[in-house]
Amino acid sequence: MKLYSRHLLGLEGVTEEEITLILDTTETFREIIERPIKKVPTLRGITVLNLFYEPSTRTRISFELAEKRLSADSISFTPATSSVKKGETLKDTVRNIEAMKIDMVVVRHSSSGVPYFLTQCVNSNIINAGDGTHEHPTQALLDMFTIRRKYKKLKGLRVVMVGDIKHSRVVRSNIWGLKTMGASVALCGPSTLLPFEVERFGVDVYSDLDKAIDGADVVNIMRIQLERQQAGMFPSQREYTNLFGITKERLSLLNKNYTIMHPGPMNRGVEITNEVADSDSSVILEQVTNGQAVRMAVLYLLSGKKEEEE
Ligand code: CP
Repeated sequence: MKLYSRHLLGLEGVTEEEITLILDTTETFREIIERPIKKVPTLRGITVLNLFYEPSTRTRISFELAEKRLSADSISFTPATSSVKKGETLKDTVRNIEAMKIDMVVVRHSSSGVPYFLTQCVNSNIINAGDGTHEHPTQALLDMFTIRRKYKKLKGLRVVMVGDIKHSRVVRSNIWGLKTMGASVALCGPSTLLPFEVERFGVDVYSDLDKAIDGADVVNIMRIQLERQQAGMFPSQREYTNLFGITKERLSLLNKNYTIMHPGPMNRGVEITNEVADSDSSVILEQVTNGQAVRMAVLYLLSGKKEEEE
């Protein structure tokens, strides 16, 4: 079994067998990062460019660490201190860096579709580290890995994603991945934060949080993008917290052995209380640890894959 594409642009269209391969491979790397010496020679000779046009803490650092721990040569590009500031285009930037002989590009960008665009400009393997409101595939893979590790399965579990569904690339990737793996998926948020034609995702949709989380195994809480509040997406932060904030009191509606997740960064006291974020049922930091292993698995599985193999 191998991955069909030499790029990871999203989870839409990725098969159950491919996702299982990535999650199984992640188990191996998860064990490696617990060792005293967390380094293997797997990607020796491979050069990876981290191209982050948008801020990131978890994704950027975990990709950088994943590359180092796989013994790849890695460069991190910072637009603010580059010739982007002199007006150089994305295409010229990447083509010039590729001319220095790189093999893989990890890209985050505020515009949906940039990772696909790069596949048309350069020969490197492209990994999407989050593009606009489109997808964030490695986040969904680490979310699924974290859930599978706890419950030993994904099939049949009820996973509810709560919050700003409209702007969330994490939600989109989780929908594709979880549905493919046989989980039951539900979305919940204010109607202004649900995407147009949300029913096309083929999942349950709620505007009443208590109904949405009743009988759920996992609640994955999405960040309220406070920068979008200027657009008046919800009346006030306090009202949002009252209606959609995850509090300890609400958790009694969940199944026994429930799990609380958040991709980060969190707005404590807005979409999640401190008590819930730091509770025993929260796997938020475990998600971050698993993220590094997932990224090692993705880099390993895609490295060396050439066009003719597709
Ligand atoms: N979850 C996530 O993508 O976090 P960062 O924006 O910090 O990478």
